[in-house]
Amino acid sequence: MSKSVLILGASSDIARAIAQKFGSEGWSLLLAGRDVEILSRDAADLRLRHNVDVAAFVFDAIDFESHKKLWDSLPGRPEGVVCVFGYLGNQEVSERNWYEARKTIDTNFTGAVSILNIAANSFEERKGGFIIGISSVAGDRGRTSNYIYGSAKAGFTAYLSGLRARLWKSGVKVTTVKPGFVATRMTEGMNTPALLTATPQQVADDVMRAYKRGRPVVYTGWFWKYIMLVIIHIPERVFRKLKL
Ligand SMILES: NC(=O)c1ccc[n+]([C@@H]2O[C@H](COP(=O)([O-])OP(=O)(O)OC[C@H]3O[C@@H](n4cnc5c(N)ncnc54)[C@H](OP(=O)(O)O)[C@@H]3O)[C@@H](O)[C@H]2O)c1
Repeated sequence: MSKSVLILGASSDIARAIAQKFGSEGWSLLLAGRDVEILSRDAADLRLRHNVDVAAFVFDAIDFESHKKLWDSLPGRPEGVVCVFGYLGNQEVSERNWYEARKTIDTNFTGAVSILNIAANSFEERKGGFIIGISSVAGDRGRTSNYIYGSAKAGFTAYLSGLRARLWKSGVKVTTVKPGFVATRMTEGMNTPALLTATPQQVADDVMRAYKRGRPVVYTGWFWKYIMLVIIHIPERVFRKLKL
């Protein structure tokens, strides 16, 4: 059997592009997400297109207790994990309604920590593997318009940074991918600037390139690195007046 990769949140637009990318390079695919029917349909398409093994698994990021069971039920140990699931949530609702805030934090941060801790321990023991997390530029600085989501992604970015430092001596590579705007279901209906908006395929290309080169942190598109460099250096007294 060829090397396999576990894709968490596999029904997302970005995850689908990542699955196509790994499939096209001959990887076996383990698709995990909430709706296994959708994943089974995707699996059939991926098998047909790329002639690779594809299996689908139920995975809910906020059903923490189920994560170990999912990991133990996988056929063999995957070579790597790509953690894609996420929840943008509604900032205004989150400010008044704890359940919306908690769902945003639990999906983007706690759930990711819960499942990736399990993968990390397994890879560390085996002395090999890779973990790629899709975080966000929103985690680089909290903004009025989405700081609940942004702070959860900031936590995820910091988690991946620590994990990378812990696991490098075991030969396990950890990559953080920080997209800016991407045209997906998540941003549907938002007026994102065309020049700054990537496609899911661009994220997938960056994920594959980062995996092959063992890159620690990657921005999609590359220019977001410089945009965020400027944004994080704006003084507080100016930043608080900006409508960001
Ligand atoms: N689009 C952007 O502009 C952008 C920018 C920066 C970062 N990102 C990040 O990129 C990643 C992929 O997002 P996307 O743009 O491809 O959006 P998307 O198509 O809306 O994907 C979000 C995915 O997360 C899954 N998900 C949500 N809650 C879950 C849970 N409790 N358990 C398991 N899966 C859950 C959804 O599953 P269901 O199909 O079951 O709902 C869906 O597959 C996310 O982490 C997002 O934060 C996106």
